[in-house]
Amino acid sequence: MRLLHMSDLHFQADCPVRRWPALGWRRVAAQTEFRLLGRRKLFLRVEETVAKLLDEADRLRVDHLVVSGDLTALALPEEFEAASAALGRWRDRMTIVPGNHDRYTPAAARELLFERAFERSLVPDLPEHRREGAFPGVKLVGEELAVIGLSSARVPPMPGIAAGLVGAAQLDGLRAALHDPRLSNRAVVLVVHHAPLRPSGRRDMPQHGLWDAPKLLEIAAAAGVAAICHGHIHDRFRVVGPGKVSIFGAGSSSQAGMEGYWLLELDRSGLLSAEAVRLPQ
Ligand SMILES: [Fe+2]
Ligand SMILES: [Fe+2]
Repeated sequence: MRLLHMSDLHFQADCPVRRWPALGWRRVAAQTEFRLLGRRKLFLRVEETVAKLLDEADRLRVDHLVVSGDLTALALPEEFEAASAALGRWRDRMTIVPGNHDRYTPAAARELLFERAFERSLVPDLPEHRREGAFPGVKLVGEELAVIGLSSARVPPMPGIAAGLVGAAQLDGLRAALHDPRLSNRAVVLVVHHAPLRPSGRRDMPQHGLWDAPKLLEIAAAAGVAAICHGHIHDRFRVVGPGKVSIFGAGSSSQAGMEGYWLLELDRSGLLSAEAVRLPQ
């Protein structure tokens, strides 16, 4: 089976100053980073880049698409609409999880903007393993693969804090799924937004990292999962975790200058090959 793993697309709405009063303080605070630090410019061609990524997926006859979060910049409804429309033709062959930017405000999380935008893609094959909303979401891909989506995205206490937590409930569901006999003859890929490890192989900083990464890695190693796919760190890299589990950071697939993805080949025995691909400019 062939997986294309992309991440951190960061569709962004136009937020002129006259709109700020209606955005709420968190999103206004974020404008500093987006405008003054030039982040906005990095994602101006997101629609075009995502179209190219999906053309690649067609050309390479990819079986399943993995999108590991941060679809939006500020969790605005029109950002979700744009992301959902852009990925639409893959929605029945896609595992997608939210990133911290998709839970930017308490209202965005409460109103389940992510879940509503990607409703079709969040329908699991084994719904009994869900513990927190749609997660863990287990999908059976062909006869040889299972892909499990986890949500690590939590509303931060303030902008600038971007830590993640899968949480005890989802980890319990994950353990149950990994013991499910229907997965026993399949390679398993986990998808989570926050990085379990940095490119150095060390844990990320507390304000940016995945708080329960050691627990997740322990469960993954014990079950012999084939790979963990994540985003969040805008850098494309691979590290090997405990139990020799391969961990793939897709970086930002749409960020100017680093457009690209991971292409993974698997069969029921596990990971066969992995290639980090830069989109031709
Ligand atoms: Fe991101
Ligand atoms: Fe992120």
